[in-house]
Amino acid sequence: MRAASSAIRSMPRSGIREIMDIAMGMPDCIRLEVGEPNFATAPHIIEAAHRAALEGHTRYTDNSGIFELRAALAEQAAESTDREVLPEQIIVTSGAMGALFSTLTCVLEPGDEVIVLSPSWPNYQMQLQLLGAVARVVETSPENGYLPTIQQLEEATNAATKALLINTPCNPTGAVIPSDLLNEITQFARHADLFLIADEVYSRITFEEPQIPTACYDTDARVVSINSFSKTYAMTGWRVGYAIAPASLAPLIRKCQEPTVGCVNAPAQYASLAALTGPQHLVEEMRNAYLNRRNISLEMLSQANVPVFTPGGAFYLWIDISQSGRTAQDFALDLIHNHQVAIVPGTTFGAENSDRVRISLASDASDLQEGLRRLISELER
Ligand SMILES: Cc1ncc(COP(=O)(O)O)c(C=O)c1O
Repeated sequence: MRAASSAIRSMPRSGIREIMDIAMGMPDCIRLEVGEPNFATAPHIIEAAHRAALEGHTRYTDNSGIFELRAALAEQAAESTDREVLPEQIIVTSGAMGALFSTLTCVLEPGDEVIVLSPSWPNYQMQLQLLGAVARVVETSPENGYLPTIQQLEEATNAATKALLINTPCNPTGAVIPSDLLNEITQFARHADLFLIADEVYSRITFEEPQIPTACYDTDARVVSINSFSKTYAMTGWRVGYAIAPASLAPLIRKCQEPTVGCVNAPAQYASLAALTGPQHLVEEMRNAYLNRRNISLEMLSQANVPVFTPGGAFYLWIDISQSGRTAQDFALDLIHNHQVAIVPGTTFGAENSDRVRISLASDASDLQEGLRRLISELER
């Protein structure tokens, strides 16, 4: 029997899996590992999908999505960047994951290098591995607010570097790239002639300054913005995301969807249109809930003298567990076995993060407090 592809066989699974597999078998487990809102999708969004299906929107759509949704997204992007954005520049995808994969497929040749920050969401490196590209990791640190310096980016760049991938607000740290640094990063990408792929799926979940879209600083059409309905509208299971791409790249990303997904589920696209054009106070209410949970959790950790990074956005806490004297993986396994609390070891987000764990503020508020109490007691053991 011939061997299956080495790219997929050697791709490491996300480190969260081991914990999730144990959590699934524990009915009373407090689940602080999952990165999805605990809120239900709003009824008007669900009704829009139902109506769309009854009205016959049950067929393939354009590879890049229905025009109404792309037009609404283009209008929103134009408003937030103060630039012209055409519906042709929007490609509706299977979640942000699909937007990233189609974009990377269109940008990269095997062997090309992409600068990726650490800690960062593991799917970036998994996707790069599938495409035969190389992740060049730039480590960020708490001393630097988990932000890269331009010097670090310069040092990581060589003739094979094709793109730079950033994520703001960041999963797992919650670091938000401030506008002046975002501007400098975009200038750096221009000087080094790199595609700049900006994952902004948490852009509507910020606690201090609002997130300025990276595309605001793009002067020569090299930024691809990745976004999604998953986190903003509590729609993770609907699988609708989108890429906003320069006019030169957008038709290729659209073409990339043709042999892979065809198009996104049609009723889900109408649901997303309802989310975008309907009441936005729900987004604000969810953000306020995460902010409240963040503040309560930071207070609990500070009372217990547990170091933690104060996130400016997204819905995670990145906690320093070095006082436990254990690796993040061992600590996470001890916590789930001894206290039935599931968290994510930091190494999931880059091998060097073995003294950190991530918990999700998108979990139920009372679960979060009880989970943190148990985490603190395991740290003091
Ligand atoms: C940084 C980041 N980007 C993208 C995604 C994927 O979002 P989607 O559900 O739209 O595929 C996630 C999901 O956890 C994420 O944390």
